[in-house]
Amino acid sequence: MKKKRIGLYPGSFDPVTNGHLDIIFRAHKLVDELVIGVAKNQKKENLFSMEKRKKLILHEINKSKYNKKSFKVVIFDGLLMNFAKSINANLIVRGLRAVSDFDYEFQMTGMNARLNSEIETVFLMASEKHQFISSRFVKEIYFLKGEVKSFIPKNVLIELKKIKN
Ligand code: PNS
Repeated sequence: MKKKRIGLYPGSFDPVTNGHLDIIFRAHKLVDELVIGVAKNQKKENLFSMEKRKKLILHEINKSKYNKKSFKVVIFDGLLMNFAKSINANLIVRGLRAVSDFDYEFQMTGMNARLNSEIETVFLMASEKHQFISSRFVKEIYFLKGEVKSFIPKNVLIELKKIKN
């Protein structure tokens, strides 16, 4: 029997945006199972709890037309490459937006490859519509009373509205 190909799409997802969802559903076509790894990032100031972030992603997957069993949303702590190995991931997927992403991603991929050269990182270019979306700016725009509904799923907007500013 053919070995299952497992992809890992890691990120902070605080909160998940339409850009992330675009990458999730496109990356899903490349593998048998896609694990969305929600990273506990001690350095970043988080808005949503880990569980809430996971729940918001799961909600969108459950709404989609795809086979839900071929997705997993997992919270992880610590090194990405250790987590990738623990779930037997064959590849890591990252989305690339503007050129400004490149430097950071290039460095991270290089370091990760040194930690484990068996696991490749592949990049999907953000779709034209989602080129400029980032969780950070979504939060900033929202709390400065700007319109964010075209950047995030409806459910994320509902959760944002529950947070006092
Ligand atoms: O959505 P983000 O914030 O761009 O995702 C960054 C993420 C979570 C992929 C990155 O911070 C990460 O891999 N964190 C886990 C800790 C780790 O492995 N650090 C070493 C990177 S070379």
